[in-house]
Amino acid sequence: MGHTVALVNQKGGVGKTTVTLGLASAAQASGHRVLVVDMDPQASTSWVLGYDPAAVEISTAEVLARGSAVGAVLETGWGEGVDLIAASNRLQPREHASGKEPERRLRVALATLLDDYDAILIDCPPSLGNLTVNALTAADHALIVVEPAALGLRGITSVADIIDDIWDSSNPNLDLAGVVVNKQPSVSAEAERRTEELARIVGKKAVWQPAIPQRVIVNQAIAERSPIHAYGYRAVDVTDAFDKLWSKLRRRIRG
Ligand SMILES: Nc1ncnc2c1ncn2[C@@H]1O[C@H](COP(=O)(O)OP(=O)(O)OP(=O)(O)O)[C@@H](O)[C@H]1O
Ligand SMILES: [Mg+2]
Repeated sequence: MGHTVALVNQKGGVGKTTVTLGLASAAQASGHRVLVVDMDPQASTSWVLGYDPAAVEISTAEVLARGSAVGAVLETGWGEGVDLIAASNRLQPREHASGKEPERRLRVALATLLDDYDAILIDCPPSLGNLTVNALTAADHALIVVEPAALGLRGITSVADIIDDIWDSSNPNLDLAGVVVNKQPSVSAEAERRTEELARIVGKKAVWQPAIPQRVIVNQAIAERSPIHAYGYRAVDVTDAFDKLWSKLRRRIRG
């Protein structure tokens, strides 16, 4: 099994970006190397990793246009172990597919980079158009990110439908690795009921443990453009959760 992972959900604000960055932080903290690929025109990931989407020269938009990642890989503000292919203001129009085999462009481009990293993490936009289709076609594993609220679970079936389409068309080997629950409140009967409901929908084994706790420090790390592992004991329950998810992902990658 390969090691390219797409973090998906067409619902906005559930934590795709936060989980992508948290896993990158965990990877870096354990001495691994990851490439983060920003497929979201909002470019939050790129911003946190040190780049202004208005100033990026070779972005995921060009990677999709050319089907090549030559010149696109950037060092990041986080330092050694976390590289980036950034989003730019030119990415939004790429939400509409065009050209030959439009859904395979990212996969073809990333092929030359696979050996350089322990994992490639693709942060997807909150939509199921060409950008997410490219991410799921490039990926070996898909992780769905949800929040434990009634509205947070809505739409998980359309993600499952898209993955079904991808199996039938561009990527029959895509592994639906599971569902990561983010923004878990410390005490909430409602959240527990939602997580049980989720387990009924997707199956208990598909829900990854532990959930990522909801903590202000997570917002702070993003606002300060820093890896969550830089916050020491103040973030320990969050980093502990990401470390466990990263280990689980590594086991999944190894098969
Ligand atoms: N575990 C958490 N604890 C506290 N705040 C969180 C947590 N996870 C995410 N957030 C906050 O929720 C907001 C949305 O998170 P994020 O940007 O990661 O979601 P997203 O799914 O990537 O959104 P979009 O669909 O817009 O790309 C952000 O302000 C983020 O800081
Ligand atoms: Mg995001």
